[in-house]
Amino acid sequence: MKSIVVANWKMNPPTFREAKKLFDATKKAAERCRDISLIIAPPAIYLHELSANYKGKRISFAVQNAHSEESGAQTGEISIAQARDAGAGYVLVGHSERRAVGETNDDTRKKVAAALSLKMTPVLCIGETSRSSSGEHFSIIAEQLLAGIRDVPPAKISKVIIAYEPVWAIGGETTMSPRDMHTMAIFIRKTVVGVYGDVGHKVTILYGASVGEQNATAMMRDGDVRGFIVGHVSTNAERFTALLQALKKES
Ligand code: 13P
Repeated sequence: MKSIVVANWKMNPPTFREAKKLFDATKKAAERCRDISLIIAPPAIYLHELSANYKGKRISFAVQNAHSEESGAQTGEISIAQARDAGAGYVLVGHSERRAVGETNDDTRKKVAAALSLKMTPVLCIGETSRSSSGEHFSIIAEQLLAGIRDVPPAKISKVIIAYEPVWAIGGETTMSPRDMHTMAIFIRKTVVGVYGDVGHKVTILYGASVGEQNATAMMRDGDVRGFIVGHVSTNAERFTALLQALKKES
């Protein structure tokens, strides 16, 4: 099974010219990695031009956010249908940086269901903002997870990607340990199986928070994940290339 790497460019780079340069470098790196499915989530304003000019098969596109309604009076929003029309096959839902500006569990429920109904793949992002020894983060994760998949019929649960992003580890150089990720992956799968039965085992789990060339291989080997969602390293062509190369050696 191919591993999955999502490049979440967030609000970078500042110009289309630079985005094109980053895309070209990323494309080159992706072409050398047959066993990795690469999904690029550029700022939405760059999406159509990048996807329309890409003729290869190795890269897919995602939007970093989209509205669950198909159209209407929603100033400043982009619908999932519009994202699909612009070339996206994936939608990030409930990223912690969206939750921080007001996205709720109920919004994620609607977006996940809307994405699936338009045959797009939702990447449901879940993660606690902090951890204490009480283990409270497990109930936060269960709540975010169960809310996000609540309207997903059993036949479609295997199409949902769950991206676990511990918010406290985003943006730095320290990841959570692969051992802790393994525990979390078991918890996530158990929670999904608790609702859906055995088919829940098919859910895809990614890890995301400070993933780089220095820590990705250990996480891939021992973290029980299918791949990663990568933030700041994905906008550094040299480091992202090194990351893909490291994963290639691992697979
Ligand atoms: P960093 O890789 O910059 O920690 O960001 C993680 C993230 O938020 C990916 O969606």
